[in-house]
Amino acid sequence: MASINVLGICGSLRAKSFNRSALLAAAELMPAGMQMTVADYADVPLFNQDVQDKGFPEAVMRLAQQIREADALLIASPEYNFSISGVLKNAIDWLSRVPAPPFKDKPVAILSATMGPLGGARQQYELRKVLGSQDALVLVKPEVFIGQAQTKFDAEGKLTDAATRKAVTDQMLALERWIARVALK
Ligand SMILES: Cc1cc2nc3c(=O)[nH]c(=O)nc-3n(C[C@H](O)[C@H](O)[C@H](O)COP(=O)(O)O)c2cc1C
Repeated sequence: MASINVLGICGSLRAKSFNRSALLAAAELMPAGMQMTVADYADVPLFNQDVQDKGFPEAVMRLAQQIREADALLIASPEYNFSISGVLKNAIDWLSRVPAPPFKDKPVAILSATMGPLGGARQQYELRKVLGSQDALVLVKPEVFIGQAQTKFDAEGKLTDAATRKAVTDQMLALERWIARVALK
């Protein structure tokens, strides 16, 4: 079976981010033949058209190339004030401006963890809309919303909640099928 390379993108820069922990859980729960590396894009500057006009920052071009080379993306992001984290939206805004836009026709799965009860549902729908503007092909179901994340991960960041582990496992199987389906187009 061909190897499938997934790029994980976390919308939180926090060292003990639940969303980063969720990405690592997904990497562990992926079917055989799929693997994930997590992008480090903390050095992407705030978007500024004047900066772009002088040349794209190296951090933006690096992230764009990582996305192009990946077979699929898994985006895990918190909800900030009912919406997409500024860190993630800023990166997407930069990526929307580079030549050969990297999200086009890219299979993407989304999950989110928050300390509130809704698990980031509100931002997921905003993120779907934004990724749609980039012609990304976002997996519809199963959706994974990890609400009250502080009760579902242990102190080391391991996902301990059995129902959530099953939900993430099911989503990774669906992502594997989605990647194959998108490749047929
Ligand atoms: C600026 C800010 C805004 C937030 N807004 C929300 C929100 O709208 N909904 C929610 O469920 N949690 C909200 N939270 C709480 C986050 O769910 C919580 O901080 C979460 O742990 C962030 O994800 P992380 O662990 O991956 O960093 C907010 C946190 C911050 C810092």
